[in-house]
Amino acid sequence: QHTAAEHGGTRRRRRLVLTASPLQGHMTPMIHLATFLHSKSLFSAITIAHSDLNPPDPSNHPPGFTFLPLRDNTSDRSGFVSGVDFVQSLNDNCRPWFKDHLVQIVNGEKEASDQKETIVVIHDDLMCFAGEVAGELGLPSVILRTSSASFFPAANIIPQLYQESRFPVQDSMLQEIVPELHPLRYKDLPFIGFPMNQILETINMITPKTPPSAFLWNTLEFLEPSALTRIREQYQVPIFTVGPLHKIIPTPSTSFLDEDTNCITWLDKQAPKSVVYVSLGSLANADEKTSTEMAWGLANSNQPFIWVVRPGSVRGFEWIEFLPEGLAVEMKVRGLIVKWAPQKEVLAHFAVGGFWSHCGWNSTLESAFEGIPMLCQPFKLDQKVTCRYLCHEWKMGVEIVVERGEIEGVIRRVLVGKEGEEMKQRALEIQEKVKVALSYGGSSYNSLKEFVEYILSQ
Ligand code: UDX
Repeated sequence: QHTAAEHGGTRRRRRLVLTASPLQGHMTPMIHLATFLHSKSLFSAITIAHSDLNPPDPSNHPPGFTFLPLRDNTSDRSGFVSGVDFVQSLNDNCRPWFKDHLVQIVNGEKEASDQKETIVVIHDDLMCFAGEVAGELGLPSVILRTSSASFFPAANIIPQLYQESRFPVQDSMLQEIVPELHPLRYKDLPFIGFPMNQILETINMITPKTPPSAFLWNTLEFLEPSALTRIREQYQVPIFTVGPLHKIIPTPSTSFLDEDTNCITWLDKQAPKSVVYVSLGSLANADEKTSTEMAWGLANSNQPFIWVVRPGSVRGFEWIEFLPEGLAVEMKVRGLIVKWAPQKEVLAHFAVGGFWSHCGWNSTLESAFEGIPMLCQPFKLDQKVTCRYLCHEWKMGVEIVVERGEIEGVIRRVLVGKEGEEMKQRALEIQEKVKVALSYGGSSYNSLKEFVEYILSQ
């Protein structure tokens, strides 16, 4: 642990202003990072600037945090026609509040010139305004990337592929490898199926106009070496790989929804490694047909399961009214259906043997940390990229075809078959490497230490 004096902290103070978009998969890693930085006792203030939608609960965080509401009027997401529209409004509306706040601090500091203070802005890739405002005020800014490193070049190459008529992808090319992005195939590219103008707009919006002072990546060096090399070649700024952030410091729950703790008492009664845990994250929506196939597959697999059906995640239904009555009864015999689970605890439980996931990056890191093999059902964006890596590179995942017979078979293969044994072994090897990376002298441990030193050098 460094002390403020060691870093000349008595002379120059550092204030951190952090902001993440109001999405579960972005807010959680940002809060973990903020909690970690707070625990160092090296910074004069830590401010969390947040949107109206899904605001953090101050009583759940260290008393040293200050919360800055950005009055962005995005609390009802249903009013937005697309994700781009939402992110654009978020940026347009948050910007003036954020800028006012920073200007006030900078001006206050000029008046009290006896003690110098550096402000460092840390933001996720969707809160682009924060980096722009920092640039305008001459302050250092750091981007926290909450998705995989491999997603970054895969998204950034799309405008080039478009120019070369390789995107939108022709059916005959879908199974081919994208030469620049080995091992990704054209079918693994993010944004497939989105309207082209929306894709270009999104990529343009989230590409930093001026490079940030540094990147923090919620990943590990050993997981994605080639993507990280590529990014380091492109950006001549420090890139700190600090994942998995959910394990760097114990943090109270960051869930936007109430976690159903019955999951744990129910799991306590199940046999070791027998349960398949099913969750498609905080954003994915499935239609009735897909969800019904999932239900039949689960019921017919004869394995115990926990299935998270987030309210509203099955299009056209409040919750599980889409299940035919007989099936609903049958499912309750063998499994548990909940609205939201304490996922990290569930994955850490001895009874869980497989994770059927949409391959969101946080879920992937959480599964890797617990050494749990994955059944992959990617929906969009980075999830397809991660699915390819899970199944092809890290070999701790298998892609699931959403049809009841296929599902039933895959669940048994992963939970009880020989193939599952091998995947479990791979997952345990990866778990071991993740633990080494986090422990004293490991890559993530060192990277975090270097990041703290980097802030103190600003
Ligand atoms: C989104 C994208 O989908 C993801 O790919 C991107 O990398 C980040 O933003 P999301 O879809 O929500 O996130 O998935 P994921 O990144 O896996 O994050 C979900 C988080 O919610 C995880 O931390 C998980 O532990 C938590 N969760 C999920 C629960 O706590 N309970 C649940 O029942 C389900």
